[in-house]
Amino acid sequence: MAGASTPSSYSTISPVKATASVLVIGVADSSVLGLEGAKAVRTALDDTVRAIGFTGSAGATARIPAPKGVSAGSVLLVGLGEFDPSGEDVAAAHEALRRAAGAALRSLDGAESIAVALPAASPDGVEAVAVGAGLGAYRFLDYRSEGKVPGVLSVIGPKGKSFSAAHDSGVVIAAATNRARDLVNTPPLDLYPESYAEIVKAQAKERRLKVTVLGDKELEAGGYGGIIGVGQGSTRGPRLVKVEYAPKGAKRHLGFVGKGITFDSGGISLKPAKSMEDMKSDMAGSAAVLQALLGISDLGLPVRVTAWLPLAENMPGSSAQRPSDVLTMRSGKRVEVTNTDAEGRLVLADALTDADAERPDLLIDVATLTGAQIVALGERTSGVMGTPAARDDVIAAAAAVGENMWAMPIPEEMLSGFDSTAADLTNSGPRPGGMLAAAAFLREFVGEDTNWAHIDIAGPSFNGSAPFGYTPKAATGAAVRTLIQIAKTLD
Ligand code: BES
Ligand code: MN
Ligand code: ZN
Repeated sequence: MAGASTPSSYSTISPVKATASVLVIGVADSSVLGLEGAKAVRTALDDTVRAIGFTGSAGATARIPAPKGVSAGSVLLVGLGEFDPSGEDVAAAHEALRRAAGAALRSLDGAESIAVALPAASPDGVEAVAVGAGLGAYRFLDYRSEGKVPGVLSVIGPKGKSFSAAHDSGVVIAAATNRARDLVNTPPLDLYPESYAEIVKAQAKERRLKVTVLGDKELEAGGYGGIIGVGQGSTRGPRLVKVEYAPKGAKRHLGFVGKGITFDSGGISLKPAKSMEDMKSDMAGSAAVLQALLGISDLGLPVRVTAWLPLAENMPGSSAQRPSDVLTMRSGKRVEVTNTDAEGRLVLADALTDADAERPDLLIDVATLTGAQIVALGERTSGVMGTPAARDDVIAAAAAVGENMWAMPIPEEMLSGFDSTAADLTNSGPRPGGMLAAAAFLREFVGEDTNWAHIDIAGPSFNGSAPFGYTPKAATGAAVRTLIQIAKTLD
């Protein structure tokens, strides 16, 4: 797995003097932005923009020959949409920059060198441009015979250490998100629990981070009934991977848990064939928490982070668990499996038990958990549940970095939907409010006084529609940016 990533550097050159093959310029309200020091070029570009009817709507692009006075070979105009950098909604302005940079880079497949000169006036704005450009430059080419990535990238912005540092931070954040995309896009023939654990080991080793992998024997000995039950229908056994980033002097401890079903066929409660191929993305939660942790380590943030990745392939083999089987979970609770397709909560429950035992200051799990998430919130908005303060902290972090997340309740009546005639509870609760029901199940495996948030990314993690902004088709890397932002702002 070798993700195609475009190197990015920071430059304070005047945009008109940049010698790239393509110079990216932002447009809003039918005017070019960010060329204050170059009046003649600005006037020429404004004339062109009006002549071709390019108003600057969000995501629109037009490649034109460079006018006189521009050193670059050509100019790519990109629309910023509604753009109000001095308005109250700073996050919206940053998201406009991120999306414009992303749309620009998505359209520049073979370009040799690209200079991005979008109107970012603050360090956070520069970081947004770097993130958007890095995400827009992503291509997944591992399984294609042909394909081009954009070449060298430079982001142009104001002079100063805080600006170049913000750029570099944006590069790290985009790289982390792109690594999560690589994992999710990799077919399950190649990405299965054992091979996934090897990738985690290799990526953690580069950073000298500690990794512990529990295999079949250790899971058995430790009583991880949920992970074993889900994994037993596959010839490729499950794993529980723990990754630790523990910088000296860290005062706070973040716990991450991510659902890592490398393929979800549904098991004996088999899914219909339509769109089953998308279920290679059922490990997106684990990819998000893993790559957020590695990104936090790359940024050197002074927060301790521990991530647990329960990995299993949910298959209907002859040794698969059956509906009506009862599992003894890691916590000791007994669960009657009434639907083998409600497997995510089973593997998460065991990992949450271990994570909770270490008493992190904040425990967050991320999972492609329910189709009900998509019914409730659509394909671009993740649902966040949990203890109110933790849940709202996640929402605030998401809003700051341009990820759509929405607070959802765990209504009190949900839990009784899991009543079992044979065991402590079943694994499939009420259909109405299925996303909330799944959260009620998970809560049974989290301590009462734990600060806990659960993020359901079923829709946002995998884009089945047209690409937009910095979001490609297929894997998106959902939740990585939010998790890194939480580590940046944890107090
Ligand atoms: N991985 C799926 C959820 C999912 C569906 C993610 C569509 C992304 C897109 C999950 O394991 C699942 O099958 N959930 C069931 C739960 C039900 C059986 C209680 C669902 O949502 O139907
Ligand atoms: Mn399932
Ligand atoms: Zn699943």
